[in-house]
Amino acid sequence: MIGRVQSPRIIRIGGGVHAETAEVLSQLGLSRPLVVTDTNLVKLGHVAKVTDVLDRAGIEWGLFDGVVEDPTDTCVDEGLAVLRKGLEGGAYDCIIGLGGGSPMDTAKAISFLSVNPGHVRDYKAPAQIDACGLPIILIPTTGGTGSELTRWCVITDTVRTEKYNLSGLACVATAALIDWTFTITKPWRITADTAVDSLTHAIEAYVSRKAFAYTDAFALSAMPLIAANVRAACEDPENGPAREALMLAAAQAGMAFSNASVALVHGMSRPIGAHFHVAHGLSNAMLLPAVTAFSVAEAPKRYGDCARVMNWASESDSDETACAKLVEGLRQLNSDLQVPSPTAIGHERAKAAGLWPLMAEQALASGSPQNNPRIPTAEEIVALYGEIW
Ligand SMILES: NC(=O)c1ccc[n+]([C@@H]2O[C@H](COP(=O)([O-])OP(=O)(O)OC[C@H]3O[C@@H](n4cnc5c(N)ncnc54)[C@H](O)[C@@H]3O)[C@@H](O)[C@H]2O)c1
Ligand SMILES: [Fe+2]
Repeated sequence: MIGRVQSPRIIRIGGGVHAETAEVLSQLGLSRPLVVTDTNLVKLGHVAKVTDVLDRAGIEWGLFDGVVEDPTDTCVDEGLAVLRKGLEGGAYDCIIGLGGGSPMDTAKAISFLSVNPGHVRDYKAPAQIDACGLPIILIPTTGGTGSELTRWCVITDTVRTEKYNLSGLACVATAALIDWTFTITKPWRITADTAVDSLTHAIEAYVSRKAFAYTDAFALSAMPLIAANVRAACEDPENGPAREALMLAAAQAGMAFSNASVALVHGMSRPIGAHFHVAHGLSNAMLLPAVTAFSVAEAPKRYGDCARVMNWASESDSDETACAKLVEGLRQLNSDLQVPSPTAIGHERAKAAGLWPLMAEQALASGSPQNNPRIPTAEEIVALYGEIW
């Protein structure tokens, strides 16, 4: 089997590394960034931490802080207009995406749309977007999505109510600066959800039909870091070692799934985000135990390894026992992280059920379920939605 890997040219990881932003720009010969972020991060002072570094280096920068959660095509268009206006005067030569997956993915979409004509939906996966726009420098603040290292970009289509993947070289950052110190301001819920997103990336990359030895190493390293630290980080936001471990795990899980792909949980999670605006990590968490229980019999050794590496099962357990412990461990994690059902947060079962066939169709069209050890039919996906609702 041939493994194919795409990743940023520069990766710097560690507490305080955002202070090297100007140095990285200089190494790349860049000097005029447009900073893409959201207003919450402006209020929290995270944007100023980076722009102060730029100011001190005498680098002029522009700002687009209009990113919304689960970024939409319209939000991308607004950012693109800001970029184009600046480009007329030669203002920008690169884009800094600062924030969670939403600002980082918006930065990617703005970059590739600056050189590829049409609407963002014209490029949805499996198309490969290889014509690169302005260089992208990514600085994650949630430590969940791993988007800083991935070749993926996720945008919501407001006309078709669909959340889709975009992929290709144009969605790979030129540089990533991964600084866990941003994450200590994450509240309990966002800490829990983003950590489960990373855990889902690691598990799905490991069981994916596209997994290979290189991606396995990242996935197997990420899982125990998340399992051992997520509760501690939720309980004590200023727990530096736990925050650092989760940020590293998010990056490793990102590297794993970027190149091995995600599977059924993500396939089913995106339609929940598009139709019900449930946070990405939370919709993954709602699905993870049920989808794992549905899938384990097709890859018992792989799922068993997940339980063993997280210390949820022992080396002497059979694969069958380890798989059962994995499902139980994921259920316990959801209980500890207070993951609600969709109904509990106001999405009535009777109303939602009418959308499940469309959501199943959208999930299958994304290609992710086809990487799952057990490939579901549309009817089985509908049944799984019914189970978690
Ligand atoms: N491109 C990829 O490879 C990839 C992978 C997984 C998910 N995604 C996508 O990423 C998006 C979700 O990203 P996300 O989960 O990182 O959340 P997000 O970027 O949507 O942010 C969620 C909230 O957290 C806040 N926030 C961010 N950093 C914070 C901090 N340090 N302290 C306090 N608050 C903070 C934001 O302001 C926002 O209100 C979804 O659209 C998802 O589909 C992309
Ligand atoms: Fe994800």
